[in-house]
Amino acid sequence: MSLLQVKQVSLSFNSKKLFKGKDLSKKVLNDISFAIEEGTCLGLIGTSGAGKSTLGKVILGIQRPQQGQVLFQGYDIYNADKATQQKIRRDLQVVFQDSYSAVNPRMTAERIISEPLENYEKLTITEQRKRIIELLERVGLSEKDLKKYPHQFSGGQLQRINIARAVALKPKLIVLDESVSSLDMVTQSLILELLNELKDDFGLSYLFITHDIKAAFLISDTLGVLEKGELIELYDSKDQFFSSKHPIVKRLRDSILAEHPRFRTLTTKANWVNTNRLSKQL
Ligand SMILES: Nc1ncnc2c1ncn2[C@@H]1O[C@H](COP(=O)(O)OP(=O)(O)OP(=O)(O)O)[C@@H](O)[C@H]1O
Ligand SMILES: [Mg+2]
Repeated sequence: MSLLQVKQVSLSFNSKKLFKGKDLSKKVLNDISFAIEEGTCLGLIGTSGAGKSTLGKVILGIQRPQQGQVLFQGYDIYNADKATQQKIRRDLQVVFQDSYSAVNPRMTAERIISEPLENYEKLTITEQRKRIIELLERVGLSEKDLKKYPHQFSGGQLQRINIARAVALKPKLIVLDESVSSLDMVTQSLILELLNELKDDFGLSYLFITHDIKAAFLISDTLGVLEKGELIELYDSKDQFFSSKHPIVKRLRDSILAEHPRFRTLTTKANWVNTNRLSKQL
């Protein structure tokens, strides 16, 4: 059984029938189906407004779709009993893009990370502090960061704290919504490396939502392309992205061709022919 199954999910906003029977509701997700297997990362790429974050919220149980089902470990998250919902909330965590707005500026790192532990685990003060120090160290910070406030950290360090909080309860699935997008390239790759390590160490699964195709490639096992609320492509292996003939995928590929050597070698023959022709004309 897959860890997560999304089945024929459709969602519209403002689904009010207006005058003359005209339906002005906006369909943001249309008949989306996919699965995430335990211990794997599904990268979900798509341009701005494609519906990626909305889909993330549907999976997190905070945006109920009008149609379809989300099954987590076989349980329908929108129709589970209270105890199951509580267990699902523990096993499903999220890390957002903006590390600063995800935390309370008046809380120290220790308090930020302690929140989920206090909600779900009954630890003594000493045990809890020990766990928090272990978590800080696991994400590349240290005991001396315990008493620091968010403004005393860089964006990358604060994202490490958000990650420590997300993994504190050893969840099954983490939704990473543009979690590295606002970081510089070096910090991005360090955080992606950390996420990859944690995935192996904790047996985590990720839904990695991004418009950054390169970041998606660095972390994902499988890959989906969302465009205007439709899951236009879903690859078992991310490498299939290179051979897809879908015009939107080609456009996404072209957008990174110039920078990435791997894509350059696979660059369209057309480009090469054009360059060749051009050089002959000169
Ligand atoms: N609460 C809401 N009410 C009405 N429309 C919404 C709401 N949330 C999102 N939308 C609309 O749904 C569409 C998809 O938004 P969403 O935030 O899911 O896109 P996205 O793919 O995450 O984009 P980005 O890459 O910019 O984060 C957009 O057109 C957005 O305006
Ligand atoms: Mg978004």
